[in-house]
Amino acid sequence: MENLKLIKVESPEQGAEHVFRIMKEELDNGRLDVLGLATGSTMIPVYKKWTESDLDFTQVTAFNLDEYVGLEASNPNSYDYFMKEHLFSKKKFKETHIPNGMATNLDEECAAYEALLQANPLDIQLLGVGENGHIAFNEPGTPADSVTHPVELTESTLGVNGQYFDNNEEIPKTALTMGIASIMRAEKILILAFGEKKRAALKTLLEGNITLECSITQLLHHQDVTVITDLEL
Ligand code: GLP
Repeated sequence: MENLKLIKVESPEQGAEHVFRIMKEELDNGRLDVLGLATGSTMIPVYKKWTESDLDFTQVTAFNLDEYVGLEASNPNSYDYFMKEHLFSKKKFKETHIPNGMATNLDEECAAYEALLQANPLDIQLLGVGENGHIAFNEPGTPADSVTHPVELTESTLGVNGQYFDNNEEIPKTALTMGIASIMRAEKILILAFGEKKRAALKTLLEGNITLECSITQLLHHQDVTVITDLEL
């Protein structure tokens, strides 16, 4: 697993420091034109660090991994809202892209998103991981050659992500997500996982067996993956 670098940190904040240093170096060296971004609580300290810094993203095009279907951008649970709140309202990017979960034709929206991604190859992709090992919304069983597509979320994901929704609002059961192949095309992948709930997924990754049942293990096929975690594994 010499293509996989493991960085052990003491806290999510220290993890965010690492990501910051990598970003700074890539930006300073002119190697960061297209950046893949993720949502989720894991990313909050990362984006906080960026917004409090002088990192300059004005020449960077950003692509987000995924979005729920059927939530307006004004809905606080949409990933569009999350990105504006934590990053885009505070840091200017050249362009930002998020799959449109309000599109009338979801297949067409995914095809258009994938075409845009292919025209703008990702230099770095930031990733979190779901408790069931999903990356973006690529649930267990997602084919390795998948590109951007609509997905039915699993019970596990609905349970975990449901905590952010009010009781009277149903969590969407469908989402749009970059596929595993879309993610794997990135030049460099940074994956962050903090806390005991992520232990099982990281352990499966480090065991080294590539299986569709745990999407994160597909990253073992990639040439440049950095895992940043506070877990002793
Ligand atoms: C969602 C997102 C994933 C993210 C995961 C973990 O399912 N689609 O991209 O990695 O949540 O979120 P958290 O960082 O809140 O644990």
